[in-house]
Amino acid sequence: MPSARKDPVVGVVGATGLVGRELVELIKRRRLRVGELKCFSSGRTRAFVSFHGRRLAAPAPSERALADCDLIFLVSSDEVARMYAPALAGRGVWVIDDSAAFRLDPKVPLVIPEVNADALRLDRRLIAGPNCTLTGLAVAGAALHRALGVREVRVASYQAVSGAGKAALGELFSQSRALAHMGLRADGRAPILREGSCLVLPRAIAFNAVPQIGRFGSDGYSGEETKVAAELRKIWSAPNLKISVTAVRVPTIRAHAMAAWLTLAQPLSPARARALMSKTRGLTLHASGSYPTPRSAGGKMGVFAGRLRQGTGPRELALWIVSDNLLKGAALNSVQTAEVLLKKGWLKHR
Ligand SMILES: NC(=O)c1ccc[n+]([C@@H]2O[C@H](COP(=O)([O-])OP(=O)(O)OC[C@H]3O[C@@H](n4cnc5c(N)ncnc54)[C@H](OP(=O)(O)O)[C@@H]3O)[C@@H](O)[C@H]2O)c1
Repeated sequence: MPSARKDPVVGVVGATGLVGRELVELIKRRRLRVGELKCFSSGRTRAFVSFHGRRLAAPAPSERALADCDLIFLVSSDEVARMYAPALAGRGVWVIDDSAAFRLDPKVPLVIPEVNADALRLDRRLIAGPNCTLTGLAVAGAALHRALGVREVRVASYQAVSGAGKAALGELFSQSRALAHMGLRADGRAPILREGSCLVLPRAIAFNAVPQIGRFGSDGYSGEETKVAAELRKIWSAPNLKISVTAVRVPTIRAHAMAAWLTLAQPLSPARARALMSKTRGLTLHASGSYPTPRSAGGKMGVFAGRLRQGTGPRELALWIVSDNLLKGAALNSVQTAEVLLKKGWLKHR
């Protein structure tokens, strides 16, 4: 492990999950300065994580083991984050939490480094990473919002199953296996599938599209739709932004896609919008006629956008955005946040 004793001790809680495994890999690939890496899981089975060729045990966390760390990535659940994050941050440990538990807490910076690294504070040790759907939208629209002001956003998302964790992905695979040999019916007609049984997601996901991510509120919006709206307002510092989201789970494995319509304060041509957006770090803008897909963006760093065009009037732009929910939507964003803390000299071995 290329590290020095004076480098920070880093913990990953949820290291055996979909986001956690990507995070450990990124720590290695991006050569994050790590004196020692400690991995944790639920402890329900004897789990291991490989790091620089070593097999690290990933037991259940304890407050004592976590308090020895200088930085903890929490990639587990809202409950686990609530259990550990505030106390650890209070003891001076940097905590970067990918759950939804603290994202809207006004005392907790909600950070996408390319968009609002200035929200980080030396005395705010608990930092939240944003919702994975929101990340692509917040990065793709940041330059337009900064230059002209975005007044209204409408979005329809097409969200990968990995966004719901490894158990949901298992459900997609087992349902798909069961249907793999299906062909046309004996009479040549297309098969008709009924809603099948499911445990993790609200409806069978294989060969389906499910417009429910989270519970519905009394306003008719799902938990995911409400989160995307509230978090975008916080990250863009735009409390009056109007936003309407339809979040749909589709049977892709990784990378969330979305169709978005942005209404600006002033008219803007697609050509000028392209010029503004091309300066955004971490955003790859496809040439007209070309576009990203969950397959092309899966496993890639950053955010990809295409099909940029005029919307219903001179102030509206329409575009297509795709980014890997496990990377820029979670693990990569968290590692980039840690890199900012290191660069500022705030994250040190205590
Ligand atoms: N998936 C995404 O695209 C995405 C994007 C943004 C944010 N997030 C957030 O990131 C977090 C992890 O998501 P995920 O998709 O990686 O979930 P996941 O695949 O279900 O993994 C969950 C991880 O948490 C661990 N865990 C469960 N209970 C625990 C406990 N009591 N104490 C310690 N660890 C425990 C699991 O350990 P075992 O292996 O032992 O079960 C596993 O390592 C969630 O908060 C999620 O909301 C996910």
